[in-house]
Amino acid sequence: LSLPLSPRNSYGTGWREVRRSLPIFPYREDLLAAINEHQILVIEGETGSGKTTQIPQYLLEDGYTNGGMKIGCTQPRRVAAMSVAARVAQEMGVKLGNEVGYSIRFEDCTSERTVLKYMTDGMLLREFLTEPDLASYSVIIIDEAHERTLHTDILFGLIKDIARFRSDLKVLVASATLDTERFSCFFDEAPVFRIPGRRFPVDIFYTKAPEADYLEACVVSVLQIHVTQAPGDVLVFLTGQEEIEACCEMLQERCRRLGSKIAELLVLPIYANLPSDMQAKIFNPTPPGARKVVVATNIAETSLTIDGIIYVIDPGFCKQKSYNARTGMESLIVTPCSRASANQRAGRAGRVAAGKCFRLYTAWAFKHEMEETTVPEIQRTNLGNVVLLLKSLGINDLIHFDFMDPPPHETLVLALEQLYALGALNHMGELTKVQTSLSWFYSTRNYCSEEVLTIAAMLSVNNSIFYRPKDKVVHADNARMNFVVPGGDHLVLLNVYTQSGYSTQWCYENFIQFRSMRRARDVRDQLEGLMDRIEVEVVSSQGDSLPIRKAVTAGYFYHTARLSKGGYKTVKHQQTVYVHPNSSLFEEQPRWLIYHELVFTTKEFMRQVIEIESGWLLEVAPHYYKSKELEDSSSKKMPRKQGKTKEELG
Ligand code: CDP
Ligand code: MG
Repeated sequence: LSLPLSPRNSYGTGWREVRRSLPIFPYREDLLAAINEHQILVIEGETGSGKTTQIPQYLLEDGYTNGGMKIGCTQPRRVAAMSVAARVAQEMGVKLGNEVGYSIRFEDCTSERTVLKYMTDGMLLREFLTEPDLASYSVIIIDEAHERTLHTDILFGLIKDIARFRSDLKVLVASATLDTERFSCFFDEAPVFRIPGRRFPVDIFYTKAPEADYLEACVVSVLQIHVTQAPGDVLVFLTGQEEIEACCEMLQERCRRLGSKIAELLVLPIYANLPSDMQAKIFNPTPPGARKVVVATNIAETSLTIDGIIYVIDPGFCKQKSYNARTGMESLIVTPCSRASANQRAGRAGRVAAGKCFRLYTAWAFKHEMEETTVPEIQRTNLGNVVLLLKSLGINDLIHFDFMDPPPHETLVLALEQLYALGALNHMGELTKVQTSLSWFYSTRNYCSEEVLTIAAMLSVNNSIFYRPKDKVVHADNARMNFVVPGGDHLVLLNVYTQSGYSTQWCYENFIQFRSMRRARDVRDQLEGLMDRIEVEVVSSQGDSLPIRKAVTAGYFYHTARLSKGGYKTVKHQQTVYVHPNSSLFEEQPRWLIYHELVFTTKEFMRQVIEIESGWLLEVAPHYYKSKELEDSSSKKMPRKQGKTKEELG
């Protein structure tokens, strides 16, 4: 590697000085010695101490990439993988994608030359399929281990296994100051290397009474801080894109109204779907005299460190996946975060100086209403995909897989059952060739694989296709109405894709998110490649929507809902659910629906629904439904109408 000696950064100093100022730097030699001595090492350090950006560089400098070996570092979040790789490339003065790269789903920014590879934990899992012993890596860093995502948990088991026969592989498990003893215990008492943090005191304030509207409370708190408190940037934790956009708009609107009465307030959002150039903005230093407020998802809890934060506003919520193993239903729900999360959030205020954290909940709620720690994702998710992946790696005995925290037995059994029902597993529990959703195969029998491909791709980015800025709601909704076609949301998405020009201009005019469309195209290309590999022909239904709706039914027959008083009921579990107000079928309310997913916001909503006929269910899933369950109430005798019939009148 030949690197320019001292690249310059926006602070005007060399990166060398910046790197040397990080808390991890004094421990560089000790750390390298410990890594040399032990195969598996747990590394604990305060967020921002330099674990993610520095350790891979130290390893590179120490020769771990000699002979073309790679150092892999996993991140639970796409945004973190991208932004950290970009930062490290900058520090090293190389072009991103050359020596330093990242790999996230549908986006591979690496090359032959890449030796430091940041990637999502899910991508490393996939690499096991092509390289089961990870032979091209000399070091694997499982970073942000405390997040305990589903993929990270699976990696733990797989990597512990390969470390036994690959004695040359170094495994580093890096985590914020949480749970490190448990990691050590799981990895056969691996030693824990602690990087002492530099942390300033953080004063914590609670509200006296619960807040009715935490969004409004956030906005008010930001403005209060801005007007009354000493200089220093503000970090606000919200649960998702919609909330964050709303909050940013409210803040900007109020600042506009206050005009020159207040100092400049820079409002910057950060969430996973934000375009990367916008994401990068949060790291720009705040100009003198102004104040920066970053409105973030819990990505800013530990994955990203923003310098200069003195004030944290924490409403105490996060969006969490939850899974009901009895009904097989997965939903994304806004729930109170854990005390561990709340403490991490507060910690963000004390990195550069003494800080303040404003918790928008009561001290009582903190003590009594929040869980101690977040439940690992593996215990609250559908395991279907993981089971498929492990099975394709030849791991058949899932009950005895080395899980750090095993998933509930019933969840595992349900996943196996569902895969069996879909035809992906045979009665021996072995993989059949049908690894992808059955709808592909059904669709080809019915000559609409072309359309089904598009729909699957669009569904994979479904919640971010339509752009609906607050100040142009009417225009946006009109634009959306123009895409509506009969039959349901899947067909609307198909219509958007078919009509879409490949230009940003077209997307802009039609209130479609360009980035999402581009992603949908990438996904579609990938799926098309897959169909090609399994030799399934891509054919079109030539405008006929019936086979398409049947194909969706074949793939998602277990997501059926039937109209009942006031709403819908799921067929198998009789759960009450509603059509999402954004759906094209919101007013129509057809008798039978297939939904793509359930989300719980104010009610249990079905997102992306398509109209079907109950008879199709018996056709595509005779093993799953009995005709009695599908009896249409409309075909039963209708109550007699008032008045007399012709015959009676005689
Ligand atoms: O992984 P850990 O939380 O220990 O720290 P890190 O992500 O390596 O961050 C070390 C330093 O790099 C922090 O002071 C961050 O502010 C800075 N950094 C940055 O400015 N921009 C990034 N994209 C990533 C890190
Ligand atoms: Mg980190």
